[in-house]
Amino acid sequence: MVRYNTGYLSSFLSEEDFRLVAEEARAASEKLRSGTGAGNDFLGWRDLPLNYDKEEYARIKETAKRLRESSDIFIVIGIGGSYLGARAVLELLQGEAHNEICKPRVYFAGNSISSSDLSDLLEICETGEVSLNVISKSGTTTEPAVAFRVLRDYLIRRYGAEEAAKRIVATTDRSRGTLKKLADEQGYEAFVVPDDVGGRYSVLTPVGLLPLAVAGIDTDALLKGAADLRERIDLDDSLDNPVNLYAAVRNLLYRDGKTVEVLSCFEPRFRMMGEWYKQLFGESEGKDKKGIYPSSCMFTTDLHSMGQYVQDGSRFLFETMVSFLDTNSKLSVKAAEVDFDGLNYLAGKTLEQINQVASDATLRAHVEGGVPCSIIEVDQMDAYNLGELIYFFERACGVSGYMLDVNPFNQPGVETYKRNMFALLDKPGYEEDKKKLLG
Ligand code: PA5
Repeated sequence: MVRYNTGYLSSFLSEEDFRLVAEEARAASEKLRSGTGAGNDFLGWRDLPLNYDKEEYARIKETAKRLRESSDIFIVIGIGGSYLGARAVLELLQGEAHNEICKPRVYFAGNSISSSDLSDLLEICETGEVSLNVISKSGTTTEPAVAFRVLRDYLIRRYGAEEAAKRIVATTDRSRGTLKKLADEQGYEAFVVPDDVGGRYSVLTPVGLLPLAVAGIDTDALLKGAADLRERIDLDDSLDNPVNLYAAVRNLLYRDGKTVEVLSCFEPRFRMMGEWYKQLFGESEGKDKKGIYPSSCMFTTDLHSMGQYVQDGSRFLFETMVSFLDTNSKLSVKAAEVDFDGLNYLAGKTLEQINQVASDATLRAHVEGGVPCSIIEVDQMDAYNLGELIYFFERACGVSGYMLDVNPFNQPGVETYKRNMFALLDKPGYEEDKKKLLG
């Protein structure tokens, strides 16, 4: 179960603050639930954990089984919302070293235009049987399209066109786009990104579910966790709803000059969840010259780098800590006959207990340093609880965006760099933009 703990906020926010913001949070929550706010044609994610396409889900499982049997290496091609969710869940549940431990090995491509990264991946491909899932809702995004062209050519050279087609799965729009057209022509197995779900809200669609099923993640539990949280909070527009409380805290602190949120966690395998959260909130809220800047820290690692700034730097930060109460690992410190390293005072304690103490000590220090801190507590590090956590953030992001008075479901700002890049690369149709850019 996921809970939201505001116990450390008492010296920063008063009961009166919460009383005053409650009506605003209620209105934002109601807007999201009733679908009357901006961007309401992109609310498909809200009911997805219950209303997903059951036939397609069965096909995801069959395809995943086939790919697991035929592949040593599975490549997920996509960028932004078309890869971050799958990678975040995979790394949190199987660890950053999953490729050393699990089969098939899973790699991510098409999330940059780095020639050296793609060259490395081509070398890795020589070490086993390869299949790939190309994911693009629009079907036209440059980064994944370039990686797909290179990797598809590789598969055709290696396996021949017919076998290569069996090793390629496309996840894209139901009917539009270059990728959909190619998938139809080539006979690739294809899955749909629903029209009413934006990229950053798509981890519980085939975008995330297929790669995760191929990796052997329990996707049933992931969906069930999200569905159960939805059930628990859906009709509650008050601040008793932890999602609304978190959205209210963020906005109260933002209005008080705390413009940067540090999402912290004491589990290194949470790193990509931090990236997923940054995309979710950054693309949803950073617009109209407003928005909290989302950032993340992995503790205790970053206590030895960013820790100094968080403790003692400019005071525009607030911290939200994600705390896993049970991490499924019970290593402990043993007593040594000769206390050569002075660690016998820890003897008998598990590393999990020591880590919990470290996080408590850190929270107290940061509060003392003037950083408002709150905690998202997660009972267990497993697929079920992670499904809840994903839904918690998605829903909170919608409510928080409405409280900020932006449309949390569009991303007009990401087009500017694309237009400049196309102009500078001489893409047909961008001639005027090039003239303007180069003067
Ligand atoms: O959240 C979003 O909408 C974006 O991050 C997209 O996921 C990203 O730009 C990739 O787009 P596409 O799936 O169309 O290739």
